[in-house]
Amino acid sequence: MFEKVKAEIELLNDIQIADKEALEKFRIEYIGTKGKLKDFFGGIKEVPNEQKKEYGLLVNGLKQKTENIYEQYKTQFETVTISAGNNLDLSKSADPLPLGSRHPIQLVKKEIVEIFTRIGYVMEEGPEIEDDWHNFTALNFPPDHPARDMQDTYFISEDKNALLRTHTSTVQVRVMQNQKPPIRSIMPGRVFRNETISARSHCFFHQIEGLYIDKGVSFADLKQTLLYFAKEMFGATKIRLRPSYFPFTEPSAEMDIWKGTETEADYRITKGTGWLEVLGCGMVDPNVLKNCGIDPEEYSGFAFGMGVDRMALLKYQIPDIRLLSENDVRFLKQFEAAI
Ligand code: PHE
Repeated sequence: MFEKVKAEIELLNDIQIADKEALEKFRIEYIGTKGKLKDFFGGIKEVPNEQKKEYGLLVNGLKQKTENIYEQYKTQFETVTISAGNNLDLSKSADPLPLGSRHPIQLVKKEIVEIFTRIGYVMEEGPEIEDDWHNFTALNFPPDHPARDMQDTYFISEDKNALLRTHTSTVQVRVMQNQKPPIRSIMPGRVFRNETISARSHCFFHQIEGLYIDKGVSFADLKQTLLYFAKEMFGATKIRLRPSYFPFTEPSAEMDIWKGTETEADYRITKGTGWLEVLGCGMVDPNVLKNCGIDPEEYSGFAFGMGVDRMALLKYQIPDIRLLSENDVRFLKQFEAAI
């Protein structure tokens, strides 16, 4: 008995197993339920009592050895199969993590908000679902005033009190109600208007509103602030203010920046005039201050509002506003480099 086990151990010292099939044969021969190990363990009955311990150790040694051999070849063959089967190149570096990118609307919004936070403005936000008072009445649009038709409104209640805000001027109202002057706020947000969707206009878009209220704020302050913005944002050298109308500002104006007509793109976007319309602005109407609990005898201020989508279209030369909301990755991927 002893001799047989010893001979097996000897044999296993130079065993070579060529492939998976040979390994399976080896397993059956040694480890399997009808294998040699079982016989050897059974053979202990025939061994005299005083040698049983020695014999047990020897057979256990053989068992250990066969198991080690089996495990070693098993992992070896498994690795080979994987690399052959899936064509894995284990020396290749890992795939790069797919990183997202900022949306062009967010890029432009961030840029504008940062320009104003540098001169002390604080960002504020408000709800997209509003009531009539915040969207119209407080902003000096009396009921049945024709100016309400300037903004085709999505009403969401039959009494027309709940609606999707048509402009971010609603946030001005909330800020004035909740804060004491001096107020310097920059207010980005999404707005909604019932307009026909085309390459140039959409039923939802984004605005950024600015508001400055303090003692003795004048139109000259407005002009200077806007000039600073035009320089920072567009590198513009000149701005011009054209008279306009908004119910909540008096006087009101539209600001144009000077682009010139030297490049073909500038000629096209300024329709040959060299001037590009960028935003609406004006001195906050005393009625609006009063409606929001600020004394117009003591304080004055200015406000301005601009469309973010339009700026993104201009900045990145995007031909169709609908691209901004379709979430086509082929479009969005083009902004990966921008931060
Ligand atoms: N709320 C105006 C609009 O949506 C823009 C604006 C804001 C004009 C503030 C003047 C002052 O058209």
